[in-house]
Amino acid sequence: MALDISPCVTDDDYEAWRQVRIAILPYERTVSVAELREAESPERLMVLAREDGVVVGHGLSDRADSAGAGSVIPRVLPEHRRRGHGTALLEHLIEHVATLGLPMLRAGADDDGSLAFAQRFGFTEVNREVEQTYRIDGPVTPTPVPDGIDVVTAQERPGLWEAAYERFGLEAIAGLAVDTPLEVSPENWVREWLGDPMFLALAEGEVVGCAGLGLDPDNPTRAENLLTAVRGDHRGTGIAVHLKLLALAWAADHGITEVYTWTQDGNAAMRALNTKLGYATTRVGIQLARPLRRD
Ligand SMILES: CC(C)(COP(=O)(O)OP(=O)(O)OC[C@H]1O[C@@H](n2cnc3c(N)ncnc32)[C@H](O)[C@@H]1OP(=O)(O)O)[C@@H](O)C(=O)NCCC(=O)NCCS
Repeated sequence: MALDISPCVTDDDYEAWRQVRIAILPYERTVSVAELREAESPERLMVLAREDGVVVGHGLSDRADSAGAGSVIPRVLPEHRRRGHGTALLEHLIEHVATLGLPMLRAGADDDGSLAFAQRFGFTEVNREVEQTYRIDGPVTPTPVPDGIDVVTAQERPGLWEAAYERFGLEAIAGLAVDTPLEVSPENWVREWLGDPMFLALAEGEVVGCAGLGLDPDNPTRAENLLTAVRGDHRGTGIAVHLKLLALAWAADHGITEVYTWTQDGNAAMRALNTKLGYATTRVGIQLARPLRRD
C-alpha cells in the first residue's frame, strides 16, 4: 500500500500528530494543538504519514534555531518501522528545507536505531544534550533571595519578558554551549523560550536571571525546566540556585513529582548545578547535522 504524506490541516490532524509524538517520546511533554496552531508559519511544515488511512508516522520541518539550517524530524511508530516510511518522510522534509534556501540540515536521535538511520543518510554528530531529572518527594525550601535582587514571575509582569530580549535574552542565548550560533527572533523568544511560570530575577528593575517550567497538560505530574540563565555581571551570587529552587518549590506545591531538564553536554556549569541540587542524569540525546545536498 502506498504511503500518503500530507500536511496537517484540521485540529484532528494536529491531534493525530501529537499522538505520534507522545507514543514515541512518552518521557517528554508535547505541546497542545493550540500551541501548534500558534506556531504555524510558512516556514514550518507538519505532516502525517498514512498507509491505508492509518497514521503510521509524522514529520516536522522548520527553520532551525541554528544559523543557516533547517530541522527535519521524521518519526515512525515502532510497529511500522523498517519498511521505508522513515526514508520517505525524511526525503519529503528535506525537500521542504530546500524551498527555504537553507544550506544545512539538523536532526536529533535519542536511541541507537534512530542514530543508525540518520547516519545512513549522512548525518554526523555535532553535539549532545543530557537529560537530568529531579524527583520531588517532599516540600522544597528555596535559598534566601540574593542581596539587591527582586524576584517576580513573567506572568505577573506582562511585557517584562519581551523587554528582556535585547539586554538579557540575546546574551543568554549566545551563552548556550551549542556548536553553531543560535538565531532566535524576538517572536520566537516569546513563543518558545518563556516558561509558565517563569521566575525572573530583577536588579534595579532589569531582568538579570530566569528559571521556569513548561507544564505538561497530558501528564500534570511532570514538568520540564525551561531556560535557566543569569546575566554575566550577576553570576556567582546564587541567583540561579535561588530561581531553580523556586521553580522546584512551585512544582512541589502543584502536585508535580518529576522535573526534567535538557542541557548541552558542554555546559558543565549548569549540569554541575543540577547535580548539586539533586538531579540525576537520565538520558542522552545526540544532535546531528549534514549539508542539505550530499555530493
Ligand atoms: C528513525 C526512524 C524515523 C526510522 O524509521 P523507519 O521507517 O524504520 O526507517 P526506514 O525503514 O526508512 O529505514 C531506512 C534505513 O535506515 C536504517 N535503519 C533504520 N532503523 C534502523 C535501526 N533500528 N537499526 C539499524 N539501522 C536502521 C537501515 O539502513 C534502514 O534500511 P533497511 O531497513 O533496508 O536496513 C524511526 O526509527 C523513528 O521514528 N525513530 C524515533 C524518532 C527519531 O529519532 N527520528 C529522527 C531520526 S533523524
